[in-house]
Amino acid sequence: MPEQRRLIFQHIDESGYSNDIDCYLRNGGYEVLKKAVTQKPEDLREEVKKSGLRGRGGAGFPCGVKWGLVDRKSGKPIYLIVNADESEPGTFKDRYIMHQDPHQLIEGTMISCFANNVKQAYIYIRGEFPHGAKILEKAIQEARDKKFVGQNILGTDYSCEIFVHRGAGAYICGEETGLIESLEGKRANPRIKPPYFPAVLGLYQCPTIVNNVETLCHVKHIIDMGGDEYTKIGTPGNTGTRVFCVSGHVQKPGYYEFPAGTITMGQLLNEVCGGPLPGRKFKAVIPGGSSAKILKFGERFKGKLRSGEAYDWGVEDVPMDFDSLAMIGTMGGSGGVIVMDDSVNMVEALANINAFYSHESCGQCTPCREGSLWMKKISSRMVHGEARKEDGALLKSVADQIPGRTICAFGEACSWPTQSFLAKFGEEFTAYPEAKKSKPADSHVLV
Ligand SMILES: Cc1cc2nc3c(=O)[nH]c(=O)nc-3n(C[C@H](O)[C@H](O)[C@H](O)COP(=O)(O)O)c2cc1C
Ligand code: SF4
Repeated sequence: MPEQRRLIFQHIDESGYSNDIDCYLRNGGYEVLKKAVTQKPEDLREEVKKSGLRGRGGAGFPCGVKWGLVDRKSGKPIYLIVNADESEPGTFKDRYIMHQDPHQLIEGTMISCFANNVKQAYIYIRGEFPHGAKILEKAIQEARDKKFVGQNILGTDYSCEIFVHRGAGAYICGEETGLIESLEGKRANPRIKPPYFPAVLGLYQCPTIVNNVETLCHVKHIIDMGGDEYTKIGTPGNTGTRVFCVSGHVQKPGYYEFPAGTITMGQLLNEVCGGPLPGRKFKAVIPGGSSAKILKFGERFKGKLRSGEAYDWGVEDVPMDFDSLAMIGTMGGSGGVIVMDDSVNMVEALANINAFYSHESCGQCTPCREGSLWMKKISSRMVHGEARKEDGALLKSVADQIPGRTICAFGEACSWPTQSFLAKFGEEFTAYPEAKKSKPADSHVLV
């Protein structure tokens, strides 16, 4: 079995490990911050760039490049926002980090603030995580008492405050510009880019860095070991470790952290997660949160790697990294791996997902607002045995007309499930109107 390598979850599950500062300090906590404040901010940024760290919030954008885009000449304050909204269904790593090891996040955040000359940072935590917010408040106070946060950090002339802001409880609050609007006290309507790239015109129209919880935790480890050393973990282009949150039909769902790209989907699900439930077979898997395109067990993917070498993969053979998953038409996204076995009816599963996205569209763009609603309505009537003959084609046509015509990437996110379910399990959608004339008694569909 491939070896787990834990950076982010290094201590989290150790017996006796707690989320208070004394425990964190006993395990070497805040030593990296002490080292960081003796260095030049630009050198720290260079280490993060060298490390190749890619954002763990969904898009996998290189963190060092993002920091390099920040407008440092405007004379305006630079803000840093920790995206702790964790709203993508199937993803549950950030909550666990905040509950079990909040000081790791605070240390990573403070190092990142120092590296970017940030004086004020916000942790925007999902509204439905009240317990997490309390843990963070307590941890920040503990860190403030020890001079790791606040005025004159560690006796230097550098001061930086962290505030916890509880979110508004909507999926779209996780999209960075929607999040910024929400933090400013408004409805979380995403902003149009350009001109509102956070690095230039973010919070209060000032340059702003938005990074995911896990991304900022990695920064601590990069500064600890150095950017070059960090690149030795994982694979070229997919450096460091990756935390997977595996849910659904496996024997051992949970959190698993591996060097990025060193484990295949088959190894993760069969060897690490114990395989399918007794008497069942894997049918499908969504590899990176509910908006990622679904993969069907049995399908094959052929092409050429960057090295020129040909590949011919089944779902089980695909390495679990950003690039390999993108090559086969889906994405690593937030690391939320949702597994479905042969007990799952794909029409019902899609109806569930479509109900979610329709509920969560902010409504600013007509294709997204109307399209997500229509996808929900059509898949819902399929589930309730009221499908019309043309519904499969209509569903596809609606999904195909949303991407590329919206303000934010939610447009793509809500279309990909429908597009990929239809492309891969089309026969279930064709057969469904005849097969189901009434809602099944055992249905768990919330539509
Ligand atoms: C609809 C939508 C929802 C998102 N939700 C989250 C989220 O809950 N958490 C998160 O970190 N990023 C989320 N993102 C991505 C953020 O916009 C942003 O790219 C990310 O926080 C950047 O951090 P990273 O570079 O460290 O990954 C979402 C994006 C979209 C389009
Ligand atoms: S794509 Fe959807 S969620 Fe994004 S701004 Fe438009 S309506 Fe809102």
